[in-house]
Amino acid sequence: LSVNWDVEAAQKGGYPHFMLKEIHEQPEVFRKTIRPRLNNGLPDFSQESIPDDIFRECTHIQVIACGTAMYAGMVGRAIMEKELRIPVTVSIASEFRYDTPLMDQHTLVIVVSQSGETIDTLAALRLAKECGCKVLSIVNVKGSSIARESDYVLYTHAGPEIAVASTKAYMVQLAVLYLITARMALVRKKDSEEAVRAFITSLEKAPDMIEQIMALDETIRKQAEKLAFAHDAFYIGRGMDYAFSLEGALKLKEISYIHAEAYAAGELKHGTIALIEPGVPVIALATQDKIFAKTISNIREVKARDAYVILITKEGADVSDDVYDIHLEIPIEDDRFTVFPCAVILQLLAYYTAYAKGYDMDKPRNLAKSVTVE
Ligand code: G6P
Repeated sequence: LSVNWDVEAAQKGGYPHFMLKEIHEQPEVFRKTIRPRLNNGLPDFSQESIPDDIFRECTHIQVIACGTAMYAGMVGRAIMEKELRIPVTVSIASEFRYDTPLMDQHTLVIVVSQSGETIDTLAALRLAKECGCKVLSIVNVKGSSIARESDYVLYTHAGPEIAVASTKAYMVQLAVLYLITARMALVRKKDSEEAVRAFITSLEKAPDMIEQIMALDETIRKQAEKLAFAHDAFYIGRGMDYAFSLEGALKLKEISYIHAEAYAAGELKHGTIALIEPGVPVIALATQDKIFAKTISNIREVKARDAYVILITKEGADVSDDVYDIHLEIPIEDDRFTVFPCAVILQLLAYYTAYAKGYDMDKPRNLAKSVTVE
């Protein structure tokens, strides 16, 4: 007996790589992650037996994670501080576990992990429990060590993520962090039911927006073909844009082996601008109204040094065409949700760059999907 198909190709469902398949699965897994937690348009974790007391009584939130999960936490911090007016700290688990932590029973610890097995994250979780904190984890793999050792778990429903570089797991980690924000706003009476319902309505639009962004595929591919020749790339943004550009830069370096760094745009003048030479790619995110003009003025500074600027803004943003080489617009009005379409653009940009360089982005060199040793 012989078969004329191979199992791996079948699992890729017609896509050339798992990474691209997983990028395309994002709308579906997003819906799967949020829908079961909505009740009459409001976030509800009662099926997971998560008591509202942990949200009501905390005075500080400490997020702990590694890699992409940590960058999801950075976006989580931005949205939580904005909506809840509560201090949120994000820590790299490998640092946190050897620090002298400033936390007590009033700290809500949120641990984020796709695999639920990352050793540094697990050690940090144990330390948090020793300090008397309640630990709520956001985990993708059911029954994993982090899930088992946490007080409470909100599972992400990304399904198996095969590509080493995380895409869909990041997306649903964000979805859960946004849901937690909404639940906390309700429980802490920070917002009216009506405002929380409106927040959820916007969150529910994210999958459609992601689908629309996929239409930019060809444009992004052409940019990636240029990016493939670069030795360095810079990602800049302010506020939330900075938080997502960190993940964008990580994606590019992980799979295309191009040196990529994300900088808070206002910090450029303190050093990084010295690295801007003619032709250096700068991926500039300017999706936040409040600081839009400030970011554009930073972009002008790199453009004046002949950087190659890929600009991402909301649709209809008022920008003159001398500040960019290519302008990608995302179809969205509410600044708080721009991470979802931006993440897809940055993932596709990294994917097509690695593709243009002929690399196997599903198994990048030196990297493991789950890091279970120190
Ligand atoms: C590895 C993976 C990353 C991941 C990180 C944290 O470095 O390559 O994609 O973000 O571990 O993994 P976790 O399973 O804890 O989310």
